Amino acid sequence: MVKLKIDNKDIEVSAGTTVLKAAESVGIHIPSMCYLDGCSNHPTCMVCMVKDTQTGKMMPSCATKVVDGMNLASEDAEVFEARKEAVELLLSDHVGDCEAPCRVACPAFMDIPKMNRFIAQGKFDEALEIVKEEIALPHILGHICSAPCEKVCRRKDVDEAVSICILKRTSAEKSENTYLPEVDKASSKKVAIIGSGVAGLAASYHILRAGHKCTLFEKESVIGGMLQTAITKDEMPQEVLDSEIEILQKLGLEIKLNSPVNSDNFESIREEYDAVIIASGSDSDEIAKLNLDFKGEKEAFKTNLPDVFAGGSLVRLQKMAVKALAQGKELAHSVNQSLNGQEIKASKRKFNSRFGVLRQTEALEYLKESVEGNRKEIKNTAGAMAEAARCLHCDCRKIDNCKLRDCAETYQADRRKFLMGDRETLKKHFNHESIVYEPEKCIKCGLCVEIAQRNKELTGLTFIGRGFDVEMAVPFNQNISVALTQTAHKCAEVCPTGALALK
Ligand code: SF4
Ligand code: SF4
Ligand code: SF4
Ligand code: FES
Repeated sequence: MVKLKIDNKDIEVSAGTTVLKAAESVGIHIPSMCYLDGCSNHPTCMVCMVKDTQTGKMMPSCATKVVDGMNLASEDAEVFEARKEAVELLLSDHVGDCEAPCRVACPAFMDIPKMNRFIAQGKFDEALEIVKEEIALPHILGHICSAPCEKVCRRKDVDEAVSICILKRTSAEKSENTYLPEVDKASSKKVAIIGSGVAGLAASYHILRAGHKCTLFEKESVIGGMLQTAITKDEMPQEVLDSEIEILQKLGLEIKLNSPVNSDNFESIREEYDAVIIASGSDSDEIAKLNLDFKGEKEAFKTNLPDVFAGGSLVRLQKMAVKALAQGKELAHSVNQSLNGQEIKASKRKFNSRFGVLRQTEALEYLKESVEGNRKEIKNTAGAMAEAARCLHCDCRKIDNCKLRDCAETYQADRRKFLMGDRETLKKHFNHESIVYEPEKCIKCGLCVEIAQRNKELTGLTFIGRGFDVEMAVPFNQNISVALTQTAHKCAEVCPTGALALK
């Protein structure tokens, strides 16, 4: 047996064990990308680095065998930097978008490509479910959203942007907006929301979903704030607002109209409720007189009072309805953390690889999984399905299980750090019946090559070229459907990135 220390933990393992496995045996997690149990080891990714505390030397743990008396560090600042640099090198020639640009541009971060895939299949209920993960008021937004997503839609590089906003509205209309999201177990907590504009309504939706009780205080005799004052009935009929309110009431929302909140009743509301959200408009002079110190978005909409959170145009003028809606979601996020006794932090989006503008030839690659034709007018179900089918599915297929993305997030990698010159041109190979191959997302780990070889694939895969220019390829310029006849699924499963993924 060999004795060693990792992060000052005593470990005893049999000779021949790798440092990676030794660490694992005592619950120390070391990230890895190119290593796979049962495959031969060719250390290429270098994200599994550990440090010899005596010499300061860094080594890949997957390829280093344990030695008696070793004393290693797996989580100090230098190790962190080494791993971060390894990830940044991998990202330097990586061409792909984790998230579709439309989703990134949506202030509410709605999963647009997923919604489009459901609509294209005629699954409107499922589409609405995706929409309502992030968007509390899809029917309203479907009428008044300024659609920042459509401005960056990749389909514009082919012909015209996908009609995202109307598709969202259609998902609400076709499923008759009856969908009620799952609600967490009821808590005994009560939240007061002051102001019934878009931000307040959206906040109430996310508070109710988290299982808390919620009461909305509106000083006017009608609900809706700026939805009543700044939007004409031509832009959005009253029934649209009514139907959204009805859904919130079904979820348990209590509404108090003609109920101004001011310095006379603010303290008693604070006493009665576990948390208060101020989501009222800029015209709320009464609220402004409460002498609160507003911290704003970066500080999770806290105020100087621990149980009071403030957003709406009181903090920043929200011209765009979808921004107000996103702010309502964030307000609810802060309150939910506070009520659950968690640290209150502004939510942060996960690492996102992005490659910028599509080149002409790349537009053709993207069209391979879409249909030709300009923007369709959406008059009926068939029209909506045809329009949704124009979506190019710009999100990555491995969005939730890509080791490169996870490591980039963990080590806060800067994808531009080692960027050099022109990027490679993106390609998508669709000629295999069950997998897609995107070479510019390959990190050359060699796992697919080995798996094909072990399973005696007749053609299999190989590496061509040298050094930085090495590329995983099918021999004799054949296509990937010839290369992987039995191991396609396995290869897609072990591929650490979205280079090989199931269709
Ligand atoms: S392969 Fe990973 S890092 Fe690259 S675009 Fe896909 S999810 Fe993002
Ligand atoms: S083509 Fe689809 S996924 Fe791509 S940006 Fe447009 S709506 Fe989003
Ligand atoms: S395509 Fe093959 S070599 Fe490239 S990252 Fe995926 S498994 Fe590794
Ligand atoms: S070098 Fe060790 S996992 Fe890649």
